[in-house]
Amino acid sequence: MDLAGKGFATRAVHGGGPPDPATGAVVPPISLATTFEQEAVGKPLAYEYSRSGNPTRAALEAHLATLEGASHGFAFASGLAAEDAILRLVAAGEHVLLPDDAYGGTIRLAVHVHAPAGLVVDTVDLTDREAVAAAWRPGTRMVWVETPSNPWLHIVDIEAISAQAHDRGALVVVDNTFATPALQNPLALGADVVVHSTTKYLGGHSDVVGGFVATRDDELAERLGFLQNAAGAVPGPLDCYLVHRGAKTLPLRMARHSENAAAVADLLAEHPAVGRVLYPGRPDHPGHAVAERQMSAYGGMVSIRLAGGEAAALEVCRRTELFTLAESLGAVESLIEHPGRMTHASVAGTGNEVPDDLVRLSVGIEDVDDLLADLRQALDGLR
Ligand SMILES: Cc1ncc(COP(=O)(O)O)c(C=O)c1O
Repeated sequence: MDLAGKGFATRAVHGGGPPDPATGAVVPPISLATTFEQEAVGKPLAYEYSRSGNPTRAALEAHLATLEGASHGFAFASGLAAEDAILRLVAAGEHVLLPDDAYGGTIRLAVHVHAPAGLVVDTVDLTDREAVAAAWRPGTRMVWVETPSNPWLHIVDIEAISAQAHDRGALVVVDNTFATPALQNPLALGADVVVHSTTKYLGGHSDVVGGFVATRDDELAERLGFLQNAAGAVPGPLDCYLVHRGAKTLPLRMARHSENAAAVADLLAEHPAVGRVLYPGRPDHPGHAVAERQMSAYGGMVSIRLAGGEAAALEVCRRTELFTLAESLGAVESLIEHPGRMTHASVAGTGNEVPDDLVRLSVGIEDVDDLLADLRQALDGLR
């Protein structure tokens, strides 16, 4: 079926291929074979060996590429494995600009894995065009964007940064994990490469770790495909199946996440125990105007800074009941965490450290009144 020109929800349900031609199965079979019979020596049919290509993975890659408006998609074993492949596009001695508030694991990968191998890495406030211009070097080859960012929910203008980078010959990579293609399409805004932790909203059910990279550029795709096979950080067929299944309901889930998060942000903004609410859907958010332009809704992530400092932040994490204290985000159930001590502990003591009064909420798709009641009781109980 030709899905060109079809709406996002239609592509979410039908992307990834027609029913299995062999059996008529309406979902892709979980193809566990590691190897495939060849017609003659050196003459494979569609697949030869599952690291290089696998039917379940191919269905997922086609599905997610369709959602991102990309012509090429590559699935990886985790979001960080996907990021690792992208950073390998830049040669030793060349320069990458990362946001100073990127996911801690992204900074750790660039600074502690790629920089020792010769990559030149700087972090900068990507919302500040002058700071970006000042951080530019002759060898700058890649600008890494994460918008909304984890856990600050900063918004970067993808169109503007892409124009700035392309003028100077650098590639733009956007980590679209928080927004997902249901709410934001970086390639349409000028980015060259999109990356995801599919562990989050694309999978959506806290039961699979994965990563994904998409592009419209044939040459980049060839290099990414080479890296996927040569370095081999590929997901297994069951993992591919789970992400594929999850992504079918992405638009429905993102609409509900966004609705619930907006109500949560409003409640938190009114509560005296909360010093500041960080949510791009609120008009007082510094990135609201850009978010309004480049996103169709504001997503399910909300961060807060507690007026009572670290002690209050830790206490609210202890007191919630529906909001489960756990790392990760983007699934149907609501989660709460303390980034400074949990997801972003790897950047503690650096300039990228997350303050200890900050708490991050991944707002799920439960009944909003129950979520609001849970947060109210947790905050009211702070001493
Ligand atoms: C924005 C963002 N990008 C990338 C990653 C890394 O993904 P994974 O944990 O699947 O390796 C994460 C993980 O939390 C993330 O939040």
